[in-house]
Amino acid sequence: MRVVGVLCLASASVSGFDWMGKIKMPTVKNLGQMMGAQAKFGDKKLLVVTGTSSGLGKMTARAALRTGDYHVIGAVRDLDKMEIVAEMEEFDKDSFTAMECDLASYASVDRFCAELEKFTMGRPIDRLACNAAVYQPSLDHAKWTEDGHEQQMQINFLSHFKLISNLLPGMAEADDARVVLVGSVTGNDNTVGGGGVYPVADLKDLEGLAHGAKSPISMIDGYSFNGAKAYKDSKLCLMMLSNLLHDKYHRSTGVAFASIYPGCIAESPLFREKRPWFRKYFPVFMKYVTGGFVGEEEAGQRLFQVVHDPRCTKSGVYWSWNGGPREGRGAEALEKGGQIMGAGGAGGGWDSIFENDQSNKVVDTEKAQRLFRYATAITGAEWPAANQPISPCPTLTVIGAVTNMLNAKEEMARMKASERLGDVDILGQPIIRSDGSQPPAVEVLNPLAEGAFVAAKFFEETAKRQAGGLLGELPDEAVAEDPAART
Ligand SMILES: NC(=O)c1ccc[n+]([C@@H]2O[C@H](COP(=O)([O-])OP(=O)(O)OC[C@H]3O[C@@H](n4cnc5c(N)ncnc54)[C@H](OP(=O)(O)O)[C@@H]3O)[C@@H](O)[C@H]2O)c1
Repeated sequence: MRVVGVLCLASASVSGFDWMGKIKMPTVKNLGQMMGAQAKFGDKKLLVVTGTSSGLGKMTARAALRTGDYHVIGAVRDLDKMEIVAEMEEFDKDSFTAMECDLASYASVDRFCAELEKFTMGRPIDRLACNAAVYQPSLDHAKWTEDGHEQQMQINFLSHFKLISNLLPGMAEADDARVVLVGSVTGNDNTVGGGGVYPVADLKDLEGLAHGAKSPISMIDGYSFNGAKAYKDSKLCLMMLSNLLHDKYHRSTGVAFASIYPGCIAESPLFREKRPWFRKYFPVFMKYVTGGFVGEEEAGQRLFQVVHDPRCTKSGVYWSWNGGPREGRGAEALEKGGQIMGAGGAGGGWDSIFENDQSNKVVDTEKAQRLFRYATAITGAEWPAANQPISPCPTLTVIGAVTNMLNAKEEMARMKASERLGDVDILGQPIIRSDGSQPPAVEVLNPLAEGAFVAAKFFEETAKRQAGGLLGELPDEAVAEDPAART
């Protein structure tokens, strides 16, 4: 049974002082909620998967439900479709809940999070799998979301960005929480699939994002629209985000962040916008020629493994399956039904999981930070401060609050003196502070007033020094007799 008592403590498996942040002071409300959640979910972990109505997401939900260890929340854009799919897949109705979440709309993401909070009754989300995506390689012109972004950019990346920011504070309270972002070989250009086929994922200087990435700006790099590149760029963004969140939040929240490449699920509806001949021959090509093919069910097992396998508590990893060079093509592949070994290939099972290399673009931390700042400004995401958890002890809380107030006052006075540094950096770029504000522009000083102030200060200091030097210290008797000096 989950913890219900005077204090609610997470297990000791969390690192450092992480357990402190997971302590909750009991109130009648949260005790009631905890009991309600216990009655509703029992000991099941809460798993949110975006896009459970099809392909990989559907198979991941199926794998999780089969264990009986999870209550799966399917975040989907089409509840009617989901209802039919759940019926056909015979999802256990007591352990699967579909909720509307259209990733083409920030308002819908926010509504989903609010509904989710009510539904979970204070029980933190244990796992979040950011899986849903669209792939629009054949479009000549961008399609736009209700928020005015190119669809792949928002559905695949920006809305997941907002979703994670909304759910992260709650997830930090769960033991062994994980956020898994579905990346792709196409976002990782140190591979044939990612770097050998034009267009290659490349965010360049993020100029599109820097200008808000709203219609008519369709690409993150700010240049002309290319549907295949927009998809690959969105996957690169997700993989960079996974690393950045690991660096920023893993130690302080205990949440593990990972990206994955599930293999090429060549038969999935993701390729619905490709021409019919492509949809027919692509799976055959992937199965017998490149060896990158993986079936939907096996791909679902892979995403589920990262959600569930104790090995995958490791954070900051890009998980893939079937390491090493490809083997067994040609006749052997035919005999094995395309079970070719090699990164992303089918077969190999759970034990073929490995920590894959990430391209220079994915591990570019400086660019990832800019990506994070722009995406935060665009989506209005609110991220928790990347601080160590603080003890909830009431005495320490009061002392801490008073100390913080006094410190803040001193600090305000100190910072006032530095306001003259100006609003641009040495590279001529505008300086944006962590709270989003800009420092004031350089003050144009009145040279006369400034000169008079410096001169007055100089005379005051000199006079003090002269007085001390000429007169020396007061003799002891004088101090003893002078009532003013005694006080
Ligand atoms: N297929 C591959 O070869 C491959 C390879 C590497 C990585 N991936 C990644 O794997 C993930 C799943 O792909 P898949 O092959 O399973 O594709 P899929 O079958 O087309 O599934 C995509 C899912 O995303 C949902 N979705 C689309 N737009 C949405 C929106 N606006 N709001 C909410 N949900 C939305 C879809 O909902 P509907 O059912 O309503 O359309 C569907 O459930 C994606 O992240 C993809 O990039 C796929």
